Amino acid sequence: MKLNIYENAMEGAIVIARRIASLIKQKQKEDKMAILGLATGSSPIEVYNELVRLHKEEGLSFKNVVSFNLDEYYQLKPEALQSYHKFMDDYLFNHIDIDRANVFVPDGLVPVKEVEAYCKEYDHLIEEKGGIDLQLLGIGRTGHIGFNEPGSTIDSATRLVTLDKITRMDAAKDFYSQYRVPKQAITMGINAIMHAKEVYLMAWGIGKAEIVQKALEGSISQLVPASFLQRHPNINYALDAAAASELASVKTPWLVGPVKWDKKQMKKAVVWLCHKVNKPVLKLTNEDYAENGMNELLTEQGSAYDININVFNQLQHTITGWPGGKPSSDDSQRPERNSPYPKRVLIFSPHPDDDVISMGGTLLRLVDQGHDVHVAYQVSGNLAVFDDYAFSYLDLSIDLNNKFGDTSENLAELKSNILKLMDGELIDEKIVAQYRILKGLIRRNEAKTACRYCRVKDENVHFMDLPFYETGTIKKKTLGEKDIQLTADLINRIKPHQLFVAGDLSDPHGTHRVCFEAVKKALKKLKKESWSKDCRVWMYRGAWQEWETGEIEMAVPISPEELLRKRKAIFKHQSQKDGVLFPGDDSREFWQRAEDRNRTTAKAYDKLGMAEYEAMEAFVEYKF
Ligand code: F6R
Repeated sequence: MKLNIYENAMEGAIVIARRIASLIKQKQKEDKMAILGLATGSSPIEVYNELVRLHKEEGLSFKNVVSFNLDEYYQLKPEALQSYHKFMDDYLFNHIDIDRANVFVPDGLVPVKEVEAYCKEYDHLIEEKGGIDLQLLGIGRTGHIGFNEPGSTIDSATRLVTLDKITRMDAAKDFYSQYRVPKQAITMGINAIMHAKEVYLMAWGIGKAEIVQKALEGSISQLVPASFLQRHPNINYALDAAAASELASVKTPWLVGPVKWDKKQMKKAVVWLCHKVNKPVLKLTNEDYAENGMNELLTEQGSAYDININVFNQLQHTITGWPGGKPSSDDSQRPERNSPYPKRVLIFSPHPDDDVISMGGTLLRLVDQGHDVHVAYQVSGNLAVFDDYAFSYLDLSIDLNNKFGDTSENLAELKSNILKLMDGELIDEKIVAQYRILKGLIRRNEAKTACRYCRVKDENVHFMDLPFYETGTIKKKTLGEKDIQLTADLINRIKPHQLFVAGDLSDPHGTHRVCFEAVKKALKKLKKESWSKDCRVWMYRGAWQEWETGEIEMAVPISPEELLRKRKAIFKHQSQKDGVLFPGDDSREFWQRAEDRNRTTAKAYDKLGMAEYEAMEAFVEYKF
């Protein structure tokens, strides 16, 4: 098994695309066809982009390529926006010189009676072409590869399958609603995948961390179909740091081999040890260290006493009620500097509610403590509005227009077209785009209301609508120069002393990851600006996870009253209340998740022997 952990998806994708290119060229020399097994979904997108670039800019030809796609939704027209046929055309086939006769994607429209024979033929064709030379795979949160859901056997063939509930939930973003996601799909079986000569399994983002750990380090089982790949003689795992974060070698490296014991590593390990033996820091003994794989640290530092004091102080110094720095006070042991005061603060919020969900308490404190707080919403978040909610706004607008004499025909027509679109009677990307604009405006107004509630000045609220997200179709663009320039322009206009970003590397849909990339690249561009030397960047984590306690560099306590204010700010995002469109496997509402998480962080500090607070928000500094 080969495991590569890349800094980001882009880096990993380039390596994989180059490997594919070299395989194609090698086969060209041998006058043979290269047989590729291809996947859809968010994971391979960057690979396809790089392949297209290699074709356009470096003349890579696909004339000797035969491709077999893993899967297709059952009973979905190939021209439907969500079909994998369309996905492959949009991302790859329409941009390269592959012979269409060599492209095979399972046909989702095969009549049910013919499915079995059709699937047999698909497998037969793969064999006839000599089997797959290189198979690309993503991994679903259920552990599926292709659409081989839990329960699939290692020798399973191409077949019609029923999709898992979690898989359908993850696909909901492409279908406007979870209920419209097809229940079945045709998938290549695990057998053909296991017979591929070379396999690349990609996983990007924290959303995949848990299942990646199970697939790579857990027992081989039908319950996690991707775990079968442990038996593959030529399996390559390509992960980013977030997807790899639950692997033992990343999470507890001191248990796997020798490590460099710097201050950070020591804090991380001691916090882990406290959790393991259920003791606060100052009660850890030499035996606790020795018995839990940390003998090396003990030898290096002398005694448990010295380590304990060191880590206790480190933890204590992360706590501050002054997230913007405490003016005119000694800041040598505080996470933020005391001057300048007040600071210009820029909070980047990927979606329109991440600011208040993830750092609402800190935002309120920053405003209360007199800082000049700006909030920039990076994408519109228009995917995550329930249809009935959008319709109530649309109806209200129609009623208002009727009432006050304006023409409502356009809106009424839009409504009827959207209904047709939902029933599959109409395929029109323009209507899809208009519908998304409507949903985006709903979210924009909610964000404005929440900012007003937090007393952020109207002129300090920025809506960026980054183009990578605003495609109006299922196809998301990759981060482009325009996204980066828009981000850089805004930062340069505000010249912040403090910047907050969602550094959780990903939400389930990857948007946070891309938004963070935009900020990183923008900061790189602005490195020479004089103000940037005096700018600190703090990363918060989105609704889906929190920093490990041992990693936290600034912990902002929240009082019971502040927590209530934070809750009210989250409530302003009405479209995300009463059940959200993409709950993942967590049915709590965002305000509940936020409060539980902030209380859990406070409890974790308390258990380590620190002061007991109601709740805490946590940050890690990003050094650019
Ligand atoms: C796609 C496929 C699936 C995806 C998996 C991950 O053809 O067969 O197994 O690879 O669901 O999807 P993403 O990459 O969107 O997270």
